[in-house]
Amino acid sequence: MSSQFTRAAGLDTGPVSLEPYRSQTHFDLEREKVFRRAWLIMGRVEDVPEPGDYIVKEVEICGASILVTRLGNGEVRAFHNVCSHRGNQVVWEAKGSRKTMFRCPYHSWTYGNDGRLLAISDEKMFFGVDKQKCGLTSVQCELWDGWIFINLNPENRVGLREYLGSMGEFLSGIPYPNAGRSVTIQAHLKCNWKFVVDAFSESYHIPVLHSKTIGSTFSDASNPMSHLQHAAFFGPHHSISLFGNPDYKPSEAHLVEQLAYSGMKSENVLAANQSGDTVALREHRSVNPGKSPTWSMDINEIFPNFHIDIGGGGFWTHEIWPISLDATRYEMRFFVPRPEDVREAMHQEHYIARLADVVLEDLANVERTHKGVAAGAKHEMILQDNEVLIRRMMDVIAKFNDADSLEGALEACA
Ligand code: FES
Ligand SMILES: [Fe+2]
Repeated sequence: MSSQFTRAAGLDTGPVSLEPYRSQTHFDLEREKVFRRAWLIMGRVEDVPEPGDYIVKEVEICGASILVTRLGNGEVRAFHNVCSHRGNQVVWEAKGSRKTMFRCPYHSWTYGNDGRLLAISDEKMFFGVDKQKCGLTSVQCELWDGWIFINLNPENRVGLREYLGSMGEFLSGIPYPNAGRSVTIQAHLKCNWKFVVDAFSESYHIPVLHSKTIGSTFSDASNPMSHLQHAAFFGPHHSISLFGNPDYKPSEAHLVEQLAYSGMKSENVLAANQSGDTVALREHRSVNPGKSPTWSMDINEIFPNFHIDIGGGGFWTHEIWPISLDATRYEMRFFVPRPEDVREAMHQEHYIARLADVVLEDLANVERTHKGVAAGAKHEMILQDNEVLIRRMMDVIAKFNDADSLEGALEACA
């Protein structure tokens, strides 16, 4: 029996407790020790391309709403979206542009997009407010390769680069194609957030759960159970490469797919793009790190809740945001080119519809898994080598929960 990746990760091979998926105490620990400490994804610089652009992201587990802005000097900043007057949310929409001032809709206190309090309505009725001290509360915000991250711990002393460590170096310099154009799928799921992370962390389920959609893209007679091609571990983060059937051809039964891909220069069903645009992506040292001819895609997981997946034709991301022990908000973004003609538009429509079908197969399943685990009949899960990231994630969370600080947690994961 193979256990090459599990042993390489320094993990044992026994059963793993299910308690962290159903225990409120454990969830409360994750809030304090994981999400209030870790660097968290907010989006891409292309989400706020121009001065005056902004986005608002909810971090439900910490009860935080975060405003990310682009200043006139190009700097990206983040603030708690909370008014200094009586705590109302200052910005109510999820994104916008050409706004260098935000007016709180409750009593009209006005802030600059650099967080400064600019004006108090009816100021003379107040009692000597020092406007300098009443700006929006700043949140640590740093950029890495075009990704915007924040840290909710005001005392945090670990920079983003240090947090990402060797994972950041491994992935650095990836030329993300079409990073400014994405299609987003959002879902509210009745399950613990870790079931969603797990659903996108292994390929063991693909030939089975996805037998009607992408099963035969990720398996063939030589690798019927879609064994992993590669796995790498970087502190709390990790990465796997999946097998792809090099001879995959849509069957007669999939006429629409045949048509959608006919005449395209795409790599395979995972490509939303013409292959010429993505040569540099595929050639990057961390993409298909073994440069295997039977590669389909990489899953790069940045702890705790952000995945950057890369296939032959482009990339897509998963964000998994815990709301409560048994509720999760999930967001997937496909980054796709602007189609140049009808054929390309049809190909892209097919690609997105196909991936959406696949994701729906995964999402329908996570609620079933949660229900099963919550029933309490089972106390442990039994993991195989292909599920190494699930085992490792549980190990990393336990290390974060045990550590006194983020520095200590990173040290424990080294
Ligand atoms: S709460 Fe914002 S102006 Fe009153
Ligand atoms: Fe899946």
